Amino acid sequence: MFLFTVLLVPALSAVGGLAADEHTYQRTDPVTGQQLLCNRCPPGTRLRAHCTRSRQTECAPCGAGLFTEFWNYIPDCLRCDACSDQQRVVRQCNGTVNTLCECEAGFYWDQHFCRRHSVCKPGHGLKASGTPHRDTVCEACADGHFADIRQAQSTCHTHNTCKDHEHLVLPGSRWHDSVCATCEQLTPKAWVDVFEPVLYGLQVQYGISTERLQKLVNRRVRKKKRAAEEDLLDLPSILEEAHRNQLADRIARKILRVQQSHCKRDAM
Ligand SMILES: *[C@@H]1O[C@H](CO)[C@@H](O)[C@H](O)[C@H]1NC(C)=O
Repeated sequence: MFLFTVLLVPALSAVGGLAADEHTYQRTDPVTGQQLLCNRCPPGTRLRAHCTRSRQTECAPCGAGLFTEFWNYIPDCLRCDACSDQQRVVRQCNGTVNTLCECEAGFYWDQHFCRRHSVCKPGHGLKASGTPHRDTVCEACADGHFADIRQAQSTCHTHNTCKDHEHLVLPGSRWHDSVCATCEQLTPKAWVDVFEPVLYGLQVQYGISTERLQKLVNRRVRKKKRAAEEDLLDLPSILEEAHRNQLADRIARKILRVQQSHCKRDAM
C-alpha cells in the first residue's frame, strides 16, 4: 500500500501540471487551497516568504557564519562548522559551502576525533604512512626481515649478512638486525656499542626509557665504582633489583648468545 502511494503521487502531480524539480517545490495556498509551484531559493540564500498566487518566492542571503549548499526553502541557513583543535581549515565556509576541516599532520580522523597516527610495534614495519583520513598501516615483518625501532616508522628491512671477517654475534630477529662484529670489536669496551641496538629494542618493548635505565645503572656505579663499559654485563642483575625480571631475563639471554660467539675465549 505504501509503495503504491509513493508511486502514485508523482503521477498525480504530473497530471495536474505541477511537477516540482530541483529549483521548485509544491505548496498549497493557505487562502485559496490552490496548488502552487514555488521557486526554491538558490544556494547561499534561504526562504523569506513562500510564493503566493500573485508573487514569487522571496529569498534572503545567508548571514556571516551561515550557509546553504542546495536550492532550498528552509527558513534558516545552516551554521558553518568550526574546525576543532588538531584540525586545520582546508576550505572556509563562504555561504554556499560548509567549512572543510582536516586533521593536522600526524593525526587522522576517526569518527569524531583526530587521533594521533599509530607507531608500528616492534617487529612490525611501516606498510603505508598515515594520512589525515587513515591511520598508519603496519605489517609484521616476514622471516629474515626486521623493523628497526630506533627509526620510528621504518619499513621491514632484510637482515644484514655478516662480512667474511665478521662473526654473527647475534642472529637477527623481527625487531633487530643481525649483529655482526669482528673479534677486535668485541672487547668489553666496544661491545656495548654492538649491543646498543638490541638493548634499545628491548627497552622499547618493555617500556623503560634510556634515562630510567641510566639512573639504575648510575646508582649501582656509585655504590661499586665500576667502569661504565662493564655495566652492561651487570644490567640483568641491576634490572632484577628493580623488579624488571622479564627484561632482565631477555637481556641476560642476549648477552649469553654474544658471549657464546666464536670470539669468547680471546676477547671476552
Ligand atoms: C564558495 O566556494 C566554492 C568552492 O570553493 C565555490 O565554488 C563557490 O563559488 C564559492 N561561493 C561564493 C559565494 O563565493
